[in-house]
Amino acid sequence: MTGVDRRVGFGYPGGKYKLSLELMRYFPKNAGVYVEPFAGRGNVFWCVAHHIRHQFTGFWLNDIKTAPFFWLLKGSTPAELKDYVLGDTGYEYPGEEEYQWLSAHRNTPRAVVMESFLTFSGGGWGAGYCCCGKSTGTVEGYLDKVLTAGRVLRDLDMRVTALDYSQVLEQCGPRDFVYLDPPYMNTSVRSYSSTQLCHRSMVNTLLGAKYAWALSEYLKPRYLMSLGPPIAKWSQRLSVTGSEMSAVDRRRVECLWAYDGERMR
Ligand SMILES: C[S@@+](CC[C@H](N)C(=O)[O-])C[C@H]1O[C@@H](n2cnc3c(N)ncnc32)[C@H](O)[C@@H]1O
Repeated sequence: MTGVDRRVGFGYPGGKYKLSLELMRYFPKNAGVYVEPFAGRGNVFWCVAHHIRHQFTGFWLNDIKTAPFFWLLKGSTPAELKDYVLGDTGYEYPGEEEYQWLSAHRNTPRAVVMESFLTFSGGGWGAGYCCCGKSTGTVEGYLDKVLTAGRVLRDLDMRVTALDYSQVLEQCGPRDFVYLDPPYMNTSVRSYSSTQLCHRSMVNTLLGAKYAWALSEYLKPRYLMSLGPPIAKWSQRLSVTGSEMSAVDRRRVECLWAYDGERMR
């Protein structure tokens, strides 16, 4: 790991910003392309790109929903990104009227760039207006993150796609390393859900994989049965407010399973 931790991060349900420093300790030291078939807002990728980019020869981010975010960051100049973030409101935090307009025009560059900042927990336009910016910070801080992220994407040998994850795995070679952070089994958040994903089929594909991989999921019997014990576990507290869940229900065990190309570690 190099020096100070100045990696960027973007709000997203199920995002792994906090865990990513731990996760990357289990990633291979000398691999080919670093691949994320379920990139989300790239919160593990930003960490890898900041701290251990030299361990990989290239990078591939894929996500059926969030690919336009990365395309825009990578394909725009710093001046364009600045325009998208500041819009007509400048450094003032955008009000609810602006939020409603962007929500109705969600494919515009400003909406794509600002979705993570303006929506509750970065959960997308359906999640509601994050009104004060207290949790996400200032417009100035967000602009700084966007410019840094754009620079990272432009500096690296990068590919960004919006394929189904299975098409990505089909193209991975023996030297590549794949980190998978899928929608967790039986979970649903507003921005995406696990119902369209067949976890059994994904696990079967991984069991026959020639490339090295690591998979994040909660501790679930089906995963234990198929993949054996995880190589790492972290007990986490879910941030659920005003709910009737018991303290036990609010705890989840985040796990990492991994395969180094020859055997389960
Ligand atoms: C748990 S999130 C990833 C979060 C990410 N690691 C982060 O830290 O920001 C899972 C992502 O998988 C994507 N996804 C769901 N089904 C997919 C599929 N079949 N193929 C590709 N991406 C998919 C969702 O759009 C979502 O962004």
